[in-house]
Amino acid sequence: MTAYNPVTPAIVAELCDIVGESNVIHADTKKLEAYSHDEVADERFVRMPDVVVKPASTEEVAAIMKLANRELVPVTPRGAGSGLSGGAVPAYGGIVLSVERMDRILEIDRDNLVVVVEPGVVTNVINEVLEEDGLFYAGYPMSVETCFIGGNVAENAGGGKAVKYGVTGRYVMGLEVVLPTGEVVELGGKTVKDVTGYDLINLMVGSEGTLGIYTRIILKLLPLPVSQVDMLVLFEDVPTAMRMVPEIMTNGRIVPTAIEFMDKLSVQTTCKYLQEELPYEQAGAMLLIEVDGSSETQVEEDYETIGELCLKNGAIEVYVADNHTTRERVWAVRRNIAEAFKVFSPVQSLEDVVVPFGQIAALVPELEKLSSQHNVSLPCYGHAGDGNLHVTLVKHPDTPMSEWEKQERTVLIELYNAVKRVGGTISGEHGIGIKRREFMPLIMDQTLIDLQRRIKATFDPNQVLNPGKMF
Ligand code: LAC
Ligand code: ZN
Repeated sequence: MTAYNPVTPAIVAELCDIVGESNVIHADTKKLEAYSHDEVADERFVRMPDVVVKPASTEEVAAIMKLANRELVPVTPRGAGSGLSGGAVPAYGGIVLSVERMDRILEIDRDNLVVVVEPGVVTNVINEVLEEDGLFYAGYPMSVETCFIGGNVAENAGGGKAVKYGVTGRYVMGLEVVLPTGEVVELGGKTVKDVTGYDLINLMVGSEGTLGIYTRIILKLLPLPVSQVDMLVLFEDVPTAMRMVPEIMTNGRIVPTAIEFMDKLSVQTTCKYLQEELPYEQAGAMLLIEVDGSSETQVEEDYETIGELCLKNGAIEVYVADNHTTRERVWAVRRNIAEAFKVFSPVQSLEDVVVPFGQIAALVPELEKLSSQHNVSLPCYGHAGDGNLHVTLVKHPDTPMSEWEKQERTVLIELYNAVKRVGGTISGEHGIGIKRREFMPLIMDQTLIDLQRRIKATFDPNQVLNPGKMF
């Protein structure tokens, strides 16, 4: 492990020279505190930075990294702080490099269907700007209204529409990256195909801010669908709902845009949080299924087929939301589940295990077993169509805090092993960060971990960029 140097007044002064004094936060505990955590609700994953810098250009980011290497001070890059694995938390203190000022949409290239953005653009803003051109960027993380595109690339964010559109990485065509050593490289570009050299874009995407800092991102766009319909389908129990996932795609022969899942407790908690009403009392589980396309007739045919298939396979009721207001109502419930649990069940661990989607039905009984054996509630929701489930470990009210950490760890290990047994892994979209780092050897063999450590050392010989993450 590297021994880092403290951030001295001389270093702070140099940072002020690079980005301007008003873009440096130092010695102001209240302001620094906002950069000490992400959305993980757990004090163990909080760490104060010594200084926060807010560069506005590639050159400034490069100068900060050169300074950090010279002085051996760690740098943790940060987007909107909406992450869920502690990736943007400065594990060793030092400098937090926030990209919040790099928030420009640099180019909309209609002829090539690409958009060029800086990392601090709020993801939803990209689509607001593109709407009048009839184009869209297909990434849809649940934090779309607040997260930054740079963070989405760093985590290879998944989200709600990956069944049809895939995850962030599918849309990253090019990156300008400041390497941990302060050199600048350009990867990829606007071409659809590119096999020139190693595929470093796919290495950079999802590297959790450990291999470089993106300063420019070229994203692939798609034509905006003309028609979208959402269905809220009620089931008596979770396994019946889960069995619909392969059914829709094989027998229904339709790849929907989204197949999202919410159990009763998730819907109930979120409806209470939003003061919303959904017909959850009747159902043990719900699927939110979206279909979209370039023709209204096709979309209508698709949702009718799916609706009939669900009813034939045990659904209690199918509600159709075909206008913007009702569609937004059901999606708002889905998007706010994590926040609702954070408010009503603050002692928790939000997980994002992923299994081959045909195996979710096999995982459900394991969850029920874990919950009853360990006296812990395990509400569950997530992206059923991707096999990506947000199992949430919630402390039982009668469990003392002194026992919780041990109990949580035991349940996590059993959960991860159950997931592994059916061919899955520990994180589908939130990443490893600091939160899951100790569990990597459960799921990945040592040869592979060592190989990745060597890759990290090649990019970052002084281990100054986002140390303490992943491995
Ligand atoms: C969601 C976040 C927690 O799907 O990933 O709501
Ligand atoms: Zn999710």
